[in-house]
Amino acid sequence: MLRLENLNKYYPPTGEVGAGAMPAPALTDVSLDIAQGEFFTLLGPSGCGKTTTLQCIAGLEHPGTGRITMGDRVVFDSDPGILVPPNKRGLGMVFQSYAIWPHMTVYENVAFPLQHGPRKLPSSTVRTKVQAALERVMLQDYVDRPAPYLSGGQQQRVALARALVSEPSIILLDEPLSNLDAKLRDAMRVELRDLVKALGITTIYVTHDQTEALSMSDRIALMNKGRVVQLGTPEDLYLRPKSAFVAEFVGRSNIIQGKVEQVGVDGRGVVNTAFGPLSCPLPATAQQGQTAELMVRPHGVEILPAGAEAKGANVFAATVGRTSFLGEFFDIELVSADGAIVRVFGSPYQRHETGTAVAFRLPEDRCLVLACRS
Ligand SMILES: Nc1ncnc2c1ncn2[C@@H]1O[C@H](COP(=O)(O)OP(=O)(O)O)[C@@H](O)[C@H]1O
Ligand SMILES: [Mg+2]
Repeated sequence: MLRLENLNKYYPPTGEVGAGAMPAPALTDVSLDIAQGEFFTLLGPSGCGKTTTLQCIAGLEHPGTGRITMGDRVVFDSDPGILVPPNKRGLGMVFQSYAIWPHMTVYENVAFPLQHGPRKLPSSTVRTKVQAALERVMLQDYVDRPAPYLSGGQQQRVALARALVSEPSIILLDEPLSNLDAKLRDAMRVELRDLVKALGITTIYVTHDQTEALSMSDRIALMNKGRVVQLGTPEDLYLRPKSAFVAEFVGRSNIIQGKVEQVGVDGRGVVNTAFGPLSCPLPATAQQGQTAELMVRPHGVEILPAGAEAKGANVFAATVGRTSFLGEFFDIELVSADGAIVRVFGSPYQRHETGTAVAFRLPEDRCLVLACRS
């Protein structure tokens, strides 16, 4: 449906950059294939290239090289030099910086793209379409309200109605919920996803918020420094991160360094860590003596009574360090004899006092080896 092939983009150097120095590329070889009706998210830290990617899709920025195809129509190609302007790409957009127009009513805001679009529509058609778009976002009773007299959530819904009114096949959303308070953001997440799914619109959603990305997306492309570093379903990214960057950006994680002690024939082995020898699955290529980097989620660690380390596999002694109560769980640091720390999310119903001796278990199947290096 929407295909990006090897997009590369440099922004011209700004005044701040030292004389002659080229800034780092904003996009490097970004390739994505997005299916019809998919809710697809670009996730990543600030400055990683999410907005740039979206603006290249919109036609508001142009890649230095690469090709963008929508359906079977090439809208950008650096090689034969194809460039379809933004208003001919059939897109709806809600950009963080494109607030709704404060000097217009709800009706005028939503009607704007139809009145200034590529085709001139009769005013009765405009009225019908605006009415339908406002009904979709449940704002049909606010038609004549001046835009400033709306709550933040309502303004966001106006922006959405304006993006949907031309019945686009693709909608681009750049951090559309980031200016809302936490409660409203939760509600709008569900509302927004239900709406675009019900309409069957292909959605490209940009956010730096992993909760939004995990809860809304069919697939996520996690970006870092202008590159896509992992592409997959929310579960792929959370449960099967391919690097420490992914593990740490999506959810919380303990990254544990160790040395491969033993490689079994069954895809398992033993890694020596600061806590002690740890049995875990190993990649087929792992070799004895290599440095291993492992990941365990704080939810995956079990706290046991002191002394349990003498009995089970992957059970280690520790002392309770800093703890904080977060309502839904206790965030607890466990400290080994030589100072290594593992973070655990424990039950809110069970307090562990700082300084007490405990044991903890790293269940074998929750230990994920991210890399083994010689
Ligand atoms: N108009 C611009 N001129 C120069 N550099 C820019 C411009 N827009 C973005 N950049 C740079 O490109 C990189 C990617 O930015 P952006 O796509 O906005 O990231 P994100 O949306 O993920 O925060 C950043 O290093 C940013 O500073
Ligand atoms: Mg951005």
